[in-house]
Amino acid sequence: MSELIDRVVIVTGAAQGIGEAIARTLAGEGARLVLADLQGDKLAHVAGSLRDTGVEVATIAMDIAVPGEARRMARAAVDAFGSIDALVNNAGLDAPPGHASEIDEEHWRHVIDVDLSGAWWCTRAVLPTMRAQARGRIVNVSSLSARLATPESSPAYAAAKAGLIGLTISLSAQLEGEGILVNAITPGSTGSTGRPVPPELRSLYQAVLPLGFGGPQPVADAVRFLLDASGRWLSGAVLNVSGGALRGL
Ligand SMILES: NC(=O)c1ccc[n+]([C@@H]2O[C@H](COP(=O)([O-])OP(=O)(O)OC[C@H]3O[C@@H](n4cnc5c(N)ncnc54)[C@H](O)[C@@H]3O)[C@@H](O)[C@H]2O)c1
Repeated sequence: MSELIDRVVIVTGAAQGIGEAIARTLAGEGARLVLADLQGDKLAHVAGSLRDTGVEVATIAMDIAVPGEARRMARAAVDAFGSIDALVNNAGLDAPPGHASEIDEEHWRHVIDVDLSGAWWCTRAVLPTMRAQARGRIVNVSSLSARLATPESSPAYAAAKAGLIGLTISLSAQLEGEGILVNAITPGSTGSTGRPVPPELRSLYQAVLPLGFGGPQPVADAVRFLLDASGRWLSGAVLNVSGGALRGL
């Protein structure tokens, strides 16, 4: 039986793409969900379709880059369900384009604020509850871009996603003794953008990735693995979920 039954899990960036797949996968395991995203309308749609199948869901429209909003998110979870068992830091600006010769201060700060600091503000906000429970799981959705250069995507994105790995490693060492396990996932290209994947993009991934097109589901499955009993001996791990695009890391 899944250990996720009735567990309270916050998923950020759950209005579409990988976050939506994570939410639906954890719902299938019986978790109670707190879904957070900038896009309130889309989030309400995802939550509504889950509630129709009997899942307990709370939603919060918020910006992870604002520390006070992260605190509001944690309060909303406790108000709705009385505990926070897990946090999935998934929300992010996915691989924004930007060449080193072009990106300005605003671009740099925005990408770091959302893709790195946002995960920290959300983590910081849930820690008092997890520490009081002496139990918790945190999964940070980093990216293969932290390990493998892509000429198109912004160096700020690579730096933020590499920073998330450092954050994962540091926090895991500090928190595992209190029963709080922190791990990360580095997805490769999923083609996920919240819209159906165009056939030509699907064919491209199918051709260039050793294991072919994966979409968001393998990332959601990795999150489930980390949050369920299967993740009980994992702390500070970085799971490479990339269809063979990168090996050995
Ligand atoms: N798609 C990929 O192939 C891929 C690969 C590696 C890593 N990732 C990472 O996975 C995560 C999800 O990616 P995706 O492909 O589903 O992207 P997506 O753009 O489809 O979805 C991201 C979600 O995050 C939300 N969001 C963005 N900024 C936010 C903020 N400041 N506060 C709250 N919510 C915010 C968006 O509204 C959106 O719903 C991201 O962190 C991304 O960097 C994606």
